[in-house]
Amino acid sequence: MTMTPLVILITGASRGIGLACAEHLAARGHRVFGGSRTGGEHAAFTLSRLDVRDEDSVREWVANALEQAGRIDVLINNAGISLAGAVEEASAEDAWALFDTNLFGVIRATNAVLPHMRVDGGGRIINISSLAGRVGVPYLGLYAASKHALEGYSATLRYEVRRFGVYVSLVEPGDIHTGITGTPTSNPQTAYDGERERVNAVHDANMRDAPPPQRVAYVVERIINARRPRLRYTVTHGGERLVPLALRILPDSWLEALARRIYRLER
Ligand SMILES: NC(=O)c1ccc[n+]([C@@H]2O[C@H](COP(=O)([O-])OP(=O)(O)OC[C@H]3O[C@@H](n4cnc5c(N)ncnc54)[C@H](OP(=O)(O)O)[C@@H]3O)[C@@H](O)[C@H]2O)c1
Repeated sequence: MTMTPLVILITGASRGIGLACAEHLAARGHRVFGGSRTGGEHAAFTLSRLDVRDEDSVREWVANALEQAGRIDVLINNAGISLAGAVEEASAEDAWALFDTNLFGVIRATNAVLPHMRVDGGGRIINISSLAGRVGVPYLGLYAASKHALEGYSATLRYEVRRFGVYVSLVEPGDIHTGITGTPTSNPQTAYDGERERVNAVHDANMRDAPPPQRVAYVVERIINARRPRLRYTVTHGGERLVPLALRILPDSWLEALARRIYRLER
């Protein structure tokens, strides 16, 4: 795409990665429409109320942007939540709330935007996944599952909509320094005490040393400006940089042994 101002929609734009993307792209001259449950105001872009778990809210948000701007060039599906705890400690309701935001929220926003992109002859859909969409992560298992689902959805959607000029890409950040916190799971089990806390301490330390969300905004801008964006873009630092290569060349048993050491798992 060229440097002409684009109309860009970003879910979850009130803070963290979504806010960094919105501010960065607005500063580049693009017309940005952000949304989040709390909404709010921002001098550089339009920030309105949006709940990606609510179909009507998503439709209204998209219709409002279309009414004001006349078209949509880019959709950035960024809104996401996390869930912290062992997989067994999560209820089906916990899992549902997580998937309803991280996967079904993406489906709702994408379905609302795609008909317009198809008619207009193209666009970009950028889904904010995670390195946890490529590997299992102890005590963030359902979050990893939701991002794995997002990966499968996005890779398939990319096959189907490219002939309409729509490119689908995934951004896979490792740890990024934002305020995201995992909601605790509903059914704590004493069997996981000790190890859960040790692993959470590793997650917390990784988060403290993580790069700022602007790193993701630069990658998103690269995708928007690329003539033919790739399917996957990672945003990593430190040892995380080895993950994509390790996934390609190491057998699963080696990856598992490595992760067990990194997270200090008991066996
Ligand atoms: N931070 C990391 O280390 C990291 C790493 C890899 C991937 N990611 C992914 O990056 C994305 C953003 O994460 P972040 O770290 O920036 O999180 P964050 O700081 O907690 O921000 C999340 C954003 O999503 C919005 N949101 C949550 N539920 C929503 C809903 N139902 N409808 C609309 N908006 C909603 C929040 O606003 P309201 O509360 O106002 O709704 C907020 O603007 C997520 O998809 C996350 O999985 C993050």
